[in-house]
Amino acid sequence: MTGRITGQLALAPARDPAHTGRVTRQALIIDCDPGVDDAVALMLAFGADEFELLAVTTVGGNVPVEKTARNARMLRQVAGLQKPGHDEAPVFMGAAQPLVRTLGTATDFHGPEGTGDLEPFEPDLPCADGHAADAIVDLVMSRPAKSVAMAVLGPMTNLALALRKEPALAERLGPVAVMGGARAEGGNITASAEFNIWADPEAAAEVLATGAEVVLFGLDATHQVRATEDRIAAVEALGTPMAKTAGAMLRFSQRVERTIVGWDASPLHDPCPVAWLLKPELFELKPCLVKVETESDLTRGHTAVEFRQAVAGEPLKHRWAVTADADGVFALIARSCG
Ligand code: BDR
Ligand code: CA
Repeated sequence: MTGRITGQLALAPARDPAHTGRVTRQALIIDCDPGVDDAVALMLAFGADEFELLAVTTVGGNVPVEKTARNARMLRQVAGLQKPGHDEAPVFMGAAQPLVRTLGTATDFHGPEGTGDLEPFEPDLPCADGHAADAIVDLVMSRPAKSVAMAVLGPMTNLALALRKEPALAERLGPVAVMGGARAEGGNITASAEFNIWADPEAAAEVLATGAEVVLFGLDATHQVRATEDRIAAVEALGTPMAKTAGAMLRFSQRVERTIVGWDASPLHDPCPVAWLLKPELFELKPCLVKVETESDLTRGHTAVEFRQAVAGEPLKHRWAVTADADGVFALIARSCG
């Protein structure tokens, strides 16, 4: 067994390391499929000064891609990121379908529009021109190596397409913090698979086979981050438009979780990778090699996580989150929404 990697070794946004008075922000692209927990993750990122949000790219996942792109634009508007002459976090629409399969959505857990109980509205601003995969390539390749991080919160289709277009992207990217995967906790869409990997297993397999620095926040970690009554109430009490939106998403998830799964407090998946980029010490990570099942119908999208260097046959190039500090994640959400 190799040693553990704790958060301290992860890339943290530099906060004025030379005490110059200037704050260096972490350039970030968020690829997502909002989605109620994606929405909370976006609020977390939108309210964090540590990030320079280069783009939000969307993919077909929880709901079809036209809706995920609309929802991302709605959420950006709620967060007040649209300012005259300064359009932060432009939204690029990406893949409508997985690489080789037909899209399977998750509307039971996110509502038919992907916004839970919230009524969607048509945002003021349209999507930015171009496909999400092209935007990822252009934004990362035009900046210094390793300077752009990604948070991937839905099926990995857009990133796989970007890597096909520009293989050099893998080495150029900074950390790619992914919500995806199932191991000790079992699956959530099937007995052994987590939804994002199950939805496009070929894309996940392709991305993981590259040299990209992928850190996976699977169900083993995200099931430790539960939206308890107290935590939801603390977000709601902040009373801002961002807090009200995040609170509504959390309430919807709580109700759905109680009805469908029978758990009292819903797990909060997608904010975890974003929280790690902000505060790595909230998570414990272990080096590993992750491969994805693409052949079997029964175990489609299962993530085989190998921690043993002696039997892996290649370097343990990925990292797998094994613990999460739930109070710490919710404190960050409250900070962003407050
Ligand atoms: C993941 O699946 C989606 O339904 C959620 O948004 C999250 O990204 C959890 O398995
Ligand atoms: Ca998601």
